[in-house]
Amino acid sequence: MCGIIGYIGNKNVSEVLFHGLYSLEYRGYDSAGMAISDGKDLKITKCVGRVSNLEDKYKKDNNKGFFGIAHTRWATNGGASLENAHPHSVGKVTLVHNGIIENADNIKLSLIDKGYSFSSETDSEVIAAFLDNELKNNNILNSIQVMRKELKGSYALGIIIEGEECIYAVRKDSPLLIGVNRNEFFLASDIAAILKYTNKYFLLDEGETAVLERNDYKVYRDEKIIHKDIITTDSKSQSLDKFDYEHFMLKEIMEEPIVLKNLIDSYKNGDNIKYYDISNYEEVHIVACGSAMYAGLIGQALIEEEANIKVNVYAASEYRYKKKIFNLKTLVILVSQSGETADTIAAMREVKEMNIPTLGIINNPNSTMARECDYVILINAGVEVAVATTKAYINQVCVLALIAYTTSLKKGLSNDVSISEFESIPNLLHDVLNNTFIYEEIAKDLYEHNNCFFIGRGIDYAICMEGSLKLKEVSYIHSEAYQAGELKHGTISLIEKGIPVIAVMSDRFLKDKTLSNLKETLARGAYGIVITTSELDDFKDFRKVTLPSVNSFCQSLLIVPTLQLISYYVSLYRGCDIDKPKNLAKSVTVE
Ligand code: M6R
Repeated sequence: MCGIIGYIGNKNVSEVLFHGLYSLEYRGYDSAGMAISDGKDLKITKCVGRVSNLEDKYKKDNNKGFFGIAHTRWATNGGASLENAHPHSVGKVTLVHNGIIENADNIKLSLIDKGYSFSSETDSEVIAAFLDNELKNNNILNSIQVMRKELKGSYALGIIIEGEECIYAVRKDSPLLIGVNRNEFFLASDIAAILKYTNKYFLLDEGETAVLERNDYKVYRDEKIIHKDIITTDSKSQSLDKFDYEHFMLKEIMEEPIVLKNLIDSYKNGDNIKYYDISNYEEVHIVACGSAMYAGLIGQALIEEEANIKVNVYAASEYRYKKKIFNLKTLVILVSQSGETADTIAAMREVKEMNIPTLGIINNPNSTMARECDYVILINAGVEVAVATTKAYINQVCVLALIAYTTSLKKGLSNDVSISEFESIPNLLHDVLNNTFIYEEIAKDLYEHNNCFFIGRGIDYAICMEGSLKLKEVSYIHSEAYQAGELKHGTISLIEKGIPVIAVMSDRFLKDKTLSNLKETLARGAYGIVITTSELDDFKDFRKVTLPSVNSFCQSLLIVPTLQLISYYVSLYRGCDIDKPKNLAKSVTVE
């Protein structure tokens, strides 16, 4: 993962780099570091932990320079230590790296034979040593060409060479863009890091090397200078302010009615409407990771049930390596908030190679996937800062529900639901979210436990998967989501006195079945919590949440936010770092 930022120009370099690092911290927060140079002296500051630690450690007199590179790390090769923090310096080369070099161990051995020694466990230091060694016989552009041939894996690099007044930028399979302004230039993993200063940029393509100088920049391909078209983005620098909320996670959950309304309005306006109709396909593969995959499970339930099309859902990390069997009329739907998840990108590229159409359901409009999918529906949830996805997940589910809805209408299957029912959801959700008392009470029931179960059947099971992931992600409580009927095939042995079992029951045909399974756990001492709808609520003696009963396309849009809020409060009571849970990063850009 990791975020990288670089700047050359007349502004206060550290200010620009710190601003960039804070907006890239969602990519990892195990350590941070920066290098600032005036072409002669290069000052490096590093720390373990957050960017704020780096700022505390940073000495203002380090800022004697007009260019610099900086990094916030999500540890891959080697733990979160000062030695492993970037930038890495070897000989004449100082660099920051996002990605993973798969053959770093072999390259490292051959560099040790040549006399190099290493102070970190990282593959990134190996790149620095590799380039330094090449520079003994080559200029930097040629050295980078050799590096391209030798390194296997992914990289986005910002490189400073001793004695030179410029920054070099290269990439392969990791995002990197170059920001352009009058007499100042930037490199960044994400446009959000530089939008405060410029909305003009270009994307560096593989095989290209950008050289950012004080008053100019050049882009080389095979030693020839090439022209790059500048893109002007109209996305405003989005506020990263929490306003009155204590955490971004809470703010983003509370924004769900607004982002849902915007999405449903844009559907009604006909934006990309043709992509919502998949009636021409006989089979769909939904490929994604984490919560995006669980949104896909809801999509699967709705598209199969309502639009009568066969759907399989795959984890992108598995899909990319499995044998793929396509029907002539298969559509592959890729779901991703960031549009930069390494496994989902790899799966997308594999599928495209095989000439199978790809539809991306994506939040970040500037992402690799938004550029490369054949068709794209943007979910327009806005910037999501908390590592745990909430509002983006909800809009992913809403797009999939609208796909099921549009397709079922096209096939003449769902005449009794009107779009106005979708339009009523934001207001209903607003009321549901404001009923915080009950979520806080349930959180009080849960927060002292170390284990928890979610059970449900059909679409309720898909909802449980997301509820369970959210709880473990932000509160570190071990939680399992189970198909209610599967418990007694082994896992029920884990049920013991007091263990919370949360049963989601919104499907009128499956409710009684799930209730029987819940009772089986109660008989063994479990503490039952029920999430249900007004239509089905005849539950007595349970702690419960009763939600407005709506059509099956929309029901999950009211249920999952309640599970998000419960997880939020559990995390709060346990004193966890809600917006930046341990070991995680917002955007998983490594395999
Ligand atoms: O950016 P993406 O939607 O591709 O990310 C996929 C997962 O990494 C993501 O949903 C992850 O599971 C979240 N942290 C869950 O809250």
